[in-house]
Amino acid sequence: MSGPTVRVLDDAQGVAEAAADRVIEAATAAVAARGVFHLCTTGGSTPAALYRALRESSRANRMPWAETQIWFGDDRFVARSDALSNVSPLDAQLLSASADGTASPLSPSAVHPWLTSAADAPTAVSAYLAELRGAGVPHTSAGFPIFDLLLIGIGGDGHCLSVFPRSPLALEGAPVAAGVPAPTHIEPHVPRLSLSLGAITSARAVLALAPGAGKAEALARIFSNATAVADAPAKAALIPTATWLLDTASAAKLSA
Ligand code: 6PG
Repeated sequence: MSGPTVRVLDDAQGVAEAAADRVIEAATAAVAARGVFHLCTTGGSTPAALYRALRESSRANRMPWAETQIWFGDDRFVARSDALSNVSPLDAQLLSASADGTASPLSPSAVHPWLTSAADAPTAVSAYLAELRGAGVPHTSAGFPIFDLLLIGIGGDGHCLSVFPRSPLALEGAPVAAGVPAPTHIEPHVPRLSLSLGAITSARAVLALAPGAGKAEALARIFSNATAVADAPAKAALIPTATWLLDTASAAKLSA
């Protein structure tokens, strides 16, 4: 089976801009084909620069915002207003007026956060799965949502979404989504809500964002044939539908 497309840009800004162009390309194709673009975004600190790049005038007027619906592959089980929430960077960069006063191009109803106000994880998970179905997102026969584009970041331990090494969500037959206990080996130490790896293989296209020297060790493990998916869950995205955007610092430990 052939592998993913891997691009090495100069730096994190180059990754953000290439990611924004890829999002617009996928959005344009999805809207042309189905009238709607279901984007599943990632958490962590990496997507903020992507959101900013999408707001730049040269790109903002090419993005079909009105036909775009934004979902989250995972979130921290904290309030939306919490700085640790994976929604807060999007709220700040895409749902707020920009510094020059330009209004947000996105309707708040087009953003679908996990129900982190729920009493417990099973309630939040079933609410999210119901919302996906209710919004008309297509699903596989195994019950996984089929996003037009799914974004992942890469953790220093080789995780993606909130699927950590040796996690039940990294195994065959894992549930579509579940609550994840607070990791003790990696920040932030808060409980999570997450789709499992099947969401990656079910997406029409995948975009992995991994800039910075801090990712070099993890990428070397992920791209090593000696590593199993269970030990580096982001390996699940080494598939032909995926594009990996690295920079020279993060790609430093990869063989040619
Ligand atoms: C999360 C993310 C997680 C993230 C990676 C990379 O909730 O933490 O979904 O999978 O993408 O940890 O995080 P950075 O972008 O901050 O390096």
